[in-house]
Amino acid sequence: MADLATFIRGLPKAELHLHIEGSLEPEQMFEFSRRNKIAIPFRSVEEVRAAYAFSNLQDFLDIYYQGANVLMTEEDFRDMALAYFARLNADGGRHAEIFFDPETHTDRGLPFSVAIDGLLAGMKEAEKTYGITSKLIMCFLRHLDESSSLRTLKSAEPYLDRITGVGLDSSEKGHPPSKFARVFQAARERGLKICAHAGEEGPPAYVHEALDILHVDRIDHGNRALEDAALTQRLVREGITLTVCPLSNLKLCVVMDLRDHPMKRMLDLGLRATCNSDDPAYFGGYIAENFIRTAEAVNLSRDEIVTLAKNSFTGSFLDAESIAKHVASVDAYAAKH
Ligand code: HPA
Ligand code: ZN
Repeated sequence: MADLATFIRGLPKAELHLHIEGSLEPEQMFEFSRRNKIAIPFRSVEEVRAAYAFSNLQDFLDIYYQGANVLMTEEDFRDMALAYFARLNADGGRHAEIFFDPETHTDRGLPFSVAIDGLLAGMKEAEKTYGITSKLIMCFLRHLDESSSLRTLKSAEPYLDRITGVGLDSSEKGHPPSKFARVFQAARERGLKICAHAGEEGPPAYVHEALDILHVDRIDHGNRALEDAALTQRLVREGITLTVCPLSNLKLCVVMDLRDHPMKRMLDLGLRATCNSDDPAYFGGYIAENFIRTAEAVNLSRDEIVTLAKNSFTGSFLDAESIAKHVASVDAYAAKH
């Protein structure tokens, strides 16, 4: 067998939890800062990377929103997306469902169209260049009022044929899913898929609310669901996909050591866990790195690694035929290596 890293990099996989703004590498941040004449409070790439030491989610979000300030034009969003897809391609990624945060940009005065038109252009180009397919998930910032997310959904009306789903991100504690009941109801009525970050820092009750009030198709993170045995059983029974992000969990102190990460436990329990990068430019690794470091830290077997890859397709919003084709490609790869 090829060594673990080579095996993982070649394994066909999908990424289901990726904030595109979190793929903005410091080098590109400087490039956009120069070309858009937007000042950033750092003198070098090294200084930026040194600032990426977080003790919780909010520490990270403060610097992540600051980083997004350099994104001004459609070209910026397209270039950022293309840089991500190049990395995903090198990591064996075949499909991605990417989050973006419209309010982060409209609140700075950018028209709604700038981010989405740029991202859609990048996604189209990635399919042509790498054969990687992708879908777009529009996230609402939960630290803002629901009125802001309702306005955002309205702005998105002309694009609803190109938006697959909606999500809920940003500061979790104190902002339960129930705060967004109306906007998620409206999104469901428009046929959009439903995701929500829950149980990253927030309690199991937030995972319950995401299921019962928002009617989610997937839970993003979900780590703290494990504190509630009945909830865990329900997630297993209903086959809910968890988009787990191990290196994010480490960087944001959701776990203090990767050896304590619950990924293996989740699989043992029968949860449909997937392995993702969240905000790779900030958390120190793209999807393959997340697979490799987690596999090493918690001793994932080859079969468990293959299961994670299959779960990434079965938990995706692709049609049944595409899912079957991708799962078969994972099986064929595993049989050959
Ligand atoms: N959690 C919540 N909100 C986010 C994250 C995250 O990990 N990344 C970007 N926005
Ligand atoms: Zn996230």
